[in-house]
Amino acid sequence: MDRFEPNLRIPGPTALPSSVRDAGSRQMINHRGPEFATMLERILTGMKPFFGTTSDVAMITAAGSGGLEAAIVNVLSPGDRVLAVSIGSFGDRFAKIAGIYGAAVTKLDMEWGQAADPTAIREALQADPGVKAVLLTHNETSTGVMNPIPVLAAVVREVSPGALILVDSVSGLGAVPFEMDAWGVDLVVTGSQKAWMAAPGLAMIAASDRAWRAMETATMPRFYLDLRAHRDAAVNGQTPFTPAIAVVFQVDEGLRLMHQEGADAVFARHEACAAAARAGLPALGFELFADQRFASRTVTAAVVPDDLDWKAFNTEVKRRGVILAGGQGKLTGRIFRLGHLGSVTLEEILGAFSTLEIASLGAGRSVTPGAAVGAAQAAALASFGLVAATTAGAGA
Ligand SMILES: Cc1ncc(COP(=O)(O)O)c(C=O)c1O
Repeated sequence: MDRFEPNLRIPGPTALPSSVRDAGSRQMINHRGPEFATMLERILTGMKPFFGTTSDVAMITAAGSGGLEAAIVNVLSPGDRVLAVSIGSFGDRFAKIAGIYGAAVTKLDMEWGQAADPTAIREALQADPGVKAVLLTHNETSTGVMNPIPVLAAVVREVSPGALILVDSVSGLGAVPFEMDAWGVDLVVTGSQKAWMAAPGLAMIAASDRAWRAMETATMPRFYLDLRAHRDAAVNGQTPFTPAIAVVFQVDEGLRLMHQEGADAVFARHEACAAAARAGLPALGFELFADQRFASRTVTAAVVPDDLDWKAFNTEVKRRGVILAGGQGKLTGRIFRLGHLGSVTLEEILGAFSTLEIASLGAGRSVTPGAAVGAAQAAALASFGLVAATTAGAGA
């Protein structure tokens, strides 16, 4: 397959547009100089509309998990009671980090594939009025579920008005609308390798005024991840430590492309690609894993059928240039995932379905040639409003 770029259909890291790749290969600059200062300011300001906030955004050189760790250690103290709502593997990770740093974590586990239940959150908060923070996952990449954050945040605000709401949107932010200020969310974490079309290496974190105030009294240990140091350095156009400059160049270029396309168009593209994925997989005979009322707009998970030799099938799909993601944790071998975020185009999704059709036929599955591609195309065009949803047929 050397002739082709693979069709990287995992939910991050996502494929880089050519101008982003070029940006990453630029010569280094002085990260204490004016060019860096201008770029940092452009990025931190340019991200605010995607977070839906007027508060300060911090950028740290770390994987998304480093951003989650920063969220915990900056606003909490050992012994603080935390309600960790988990709908999958990344919700589990957020809870684990809080526990490791000494928070008294109550875990609210939902069945994987389901969204968080607002009633269960309400009851958990009513049972413990002392909860200091609630941890939520916006887009659970391991299951393909997108939590209804405004609904969940409203419950927290009503029952526990003083609790901080910390949200992992590593794989959601930038691809779908998010209104941190309007929804009353206190802290949101995202990662460069997802919707932002850049390489892994940077985590961006926005904190509400309340969260910034909480940092003044929180006592969990922190040095590298102290967000106050990052905010203070940013005032002078710097980061407190040497940043991953190549990735900063890329995020700057990715963000430029996103602003050029327009946020609404970026969101519509993601929605259409998601609609295509949700229509194409069932047309190939794959059952969707997630509760479709809360289906993610950045990744779609499907159940591996009992009669499919997944390893052989995936090897063939890969040989033909499409890279899918398997299941994580307890879903290993049970589901596979198709990512549709970042620079994703509808043509890439349709191409992936063409390959999946061919591999399915090769595996002896009963598939009508063109059915999945057609269903995906029709659903995407309906999502774009180019054909009526009823005539599109597939995808319902
Ligand atoms: C929802 C979510 N949270 C956290 C992470 C962790 O990010 P990283 O792998 O960059 O540490 C990921 C990565 O896939 C994710 O999808």
